[in-house]
Amino acid sequence: MVTKEYLSLAETAEMLGKNKETLRRWDREGKLVAVREPMSNYRVYRRADVEKIFKGFMQEGSTSESNYVEADNDYKVLELFAGAGGLAVGLEKAGLKCVALNEIDKFACQTLRNNRPNWRVMEGDIKDFDFIEYNGKVDVVTGGFPCQAFSYAGKKLGLADARGTLFYEFARVVKEVNPPICIGENVRGLLSHDNGKTLEGMISILDEIGYRVVPVEVLKAINFKVPQKRERLILVGIRKDINLDYHYPAPYNKIYNLKDALKKGELYDSDVPVSGGAKYPKRKAEILDLVPPKGYWRDLPLDLQKEYMGGSFFLGGGKTGIARRIGWDEPSLTLTCSPAQKQTERCHPDETRPFTVREYARIQTFPDDWEFAGSLAQQYKQIGNAVPVNLGTEVGYSIIKFLNKYYSLSNPK
Ligand SMILES: C[S@@+](CC[C@H](N)C(=O)[O-])C[C@H]1O[C@@H](n2cnc3c(N)ncnc32)[C@H](O)[C@@H]1O
Repeated sequence: MVTKEYLSLAETAEMLGKNKETLRRWDREGKLVAVREPMSNYRVYRRADVEKIFKGFMQEGSTSESNYVEADNDYKVLELFAGAGGLAVGLEKAGLKCVALNEIDKFACQTLRNNRPNWRVMEGDIKDFDFIEYNGKVDVVTGGFPCQAFSYAGKKLGLADARGTLFYEFARVVKEVNPPICIGENVRGLLSHDNGKTLEGMISILDEIGYRVVPVEVLKAINFKVPQKRERLILVGIRKDINLDYHYPAPYNKIYNLKDALKKGELYDSDVPVSGGAKYPKRKAEILDLVPPKGYWRDLPLDLQKEYMGGSFFLGGGKTGIARRIGWDEPSLTLTCSPAQKQTERCHPDETRPFTVREYARIQTFPDDWEFAGSLAQQYKQIGNAVPVNLGTEVGYSIIKFLNKYYSLSNPK
């Protein structure tokens, strides 16, 4: 199996995170020039040209210096919607202390308890808990609330209007606990959810309860020591009596790939441990067998492309995540909650199978000794839902930096 010399328009767009219009413009401007494939006359790009531009991108504003900073005090976190603890472990690695975590899923709670018997895991629906006992005792409230639309009665959304949503619960807890800083995390889709009105509503609610929201950013996990192209939207609120800026962690210029995740190297000091994993159904495996590393459904013979894609074969569009085999020298595509699911296959580079549970955990940068409770499907779900641990650590450093400054100004020595 060889690495292809040319990339399609869709593949190039995906690799660079740019839309096709931008690529057409770059073609006209001579920044990245497409060539015509002799047989089909499709526009394709030389892989080497695309990789050169990709490398250039990664260096914009990026650094090789660590964001690490030591905490001046024992800072305490209350983590809501904690899942299997991706964000919590990341924050812990940065030096923050989790005083309590809330989560509704019993298997995820079991995972948290098995790995950290000393953490206070509050199992159940967030609606059924009050957190008044933590008022003034926690430095940061964090949470990846699932995204839901609001129904708008008036022009500006207030806390009371959002009742019934999980963001309401997040804001309600922040109000009860009153920490100097709160951090919500979500998917990029929140930016465009309900034409941006959902995010606008969240910002106005945080404003109403006394928090100024820092301009929202979407962080790319690959810039934060995670061998995966996952993105996370970060929503930071600073209590309005605090006149201090918050800075997002600086992106690193070093990008890790699948080999770094699964083999001994800079990220891990051993190869990935052997573990159980899902399998593809027989026909799917027969078809995926024919896809080369970094390839996808378009690399199949035409009759198999049609069989595999069914009706969507004729719909057009790149769909580069379908029947995809990851290459050793690239970061993985975003892992989903079920690894054998159609349309989001991320096949192992050498073997025709989904990544195992431990491989999944590595791609999300969990430590090898972090064990997941429940059936195989439950374990994949917990890992697929998580914030990559290393991204959590970098966000953790940014919180520590903020809190160090805040406490040194409010209690000068
Ligand atoms: C995106 S995941 C959070 C992932 C987590 N931050 C991590 O890094 O592993 C969202 C979590 O919210 C939990 N959840 C959903 N509804 C909830 C509720 N009503 N009360 C508490 N937790 C809830 C889900 O079970 C899920 O684990």
